[in-house]
Amino acid sequence: QLCKGVNGLEKVVLKEAKGSSAEIYLYGGHVTSWKNENGEEMLFVSSKAIFKPPKAIRGGIPLCFPQFGSHGSLEQHGFARNRIWSIDKDPPPLPTSSTSKAYVDLILKPSEEDAKIWPHSYEFRLRVALGPTGDLLLTSRIRNTNADGKPFSFTFAYHTYFSVSDISEVRIEGLETLDYLDNLQNKERFTEQGDAITFESEIDKIYLSTPTKIAILDHEKKRTFVIRKDGLPDAVVWNPWDRKAKAMADFGDDEYKYMLCVEAAAVEKPITLKPGEEWKGRLELSAVPSSYCSGQ
Ligand code: BG6
Repeated sequence: QLCKGVNGLEKVVLKEAKGSSAEIYLYGGHVTSWKNENGEEMLFVSSKAIFKPPKAIRGGIPLCFPQFGSHGSLEQHGFARNRIWSIDKDPPPLPTSSTSKAYVDLILKPSEEDAKIWPHSYEFRLRVALGPTGDLLLTSRIRNTNADGKPFSFTFAYHTYFSVSDISEVRIEGLETLDYLDNLQNKERFTEQGDAITFESEIDKIYLSTPTKIAILDHEKKRTFVIRKDGLPDAVVWNPWDRKAKAMADFGDDEYKYMLCVEAAAVEKPITLKPGEEWKGRLELSAVPSSYCSGQ
């Protein structure tokens, strides 16, 4: 179901039998919408997002590859998020395919221009699926197809922008007491103290060796996002707050109140693949009423 989205960019719309849905732009292999069975949007996309290459779409789930952030010599967050992906018509099978009928397979391979920026050959396969209860499942498979026998290394993130009612009413559970690199303090390493993470100013931290399950509790919406991840040891937490929000052309001045990025990532230890080797990174998002979670 390929159709035209903003500015004529092509997108795929997934619909699950019970009513949940998702939209994925071929531009960036970028999920821009994930709605629950009641049609409520779970992801934040800025009202000022620019749906036009080469600017990555502000919101949803940008894919950071082959570099996260400025942790290397490439452009910020690498280039996968501003390339046009293709539908992968004949993907190698994945075990999850049997549990979901609503899914799409995309693929990114380097162009000649890309090979000048990052001199490696690869196949990046992305499957986006809706589970039977409306969960959003993303599986990335990256294979080294270098013919010259050379390995390559990369860092990666699912740069997920969650939609929240009010950032000051939100907390994250699962990251307390962990070590993190603080992007606001020269990527220095610190240890998180005490309780759940709450928000009252700009944050840009890379939590290291995090558990496979992290929760975002939205008190006002009485909703909890549960993030489950595999192959992605780190978790980036980002909110630009007011000053940085104003400095971003594709982000509304007040929109920082309504979003929170929690990004399943592999940053501290780059992933290295020899020719023929494949890496897999899975992200599973669910949104559940908070009452359901209490006491867990
Ligand atoms: C976060 C980074 O993941 O993405 C931040 O940790 C960065 O440092 C943010 O500002 C947004 O990046 P961009 O390139 O999409 O504006």
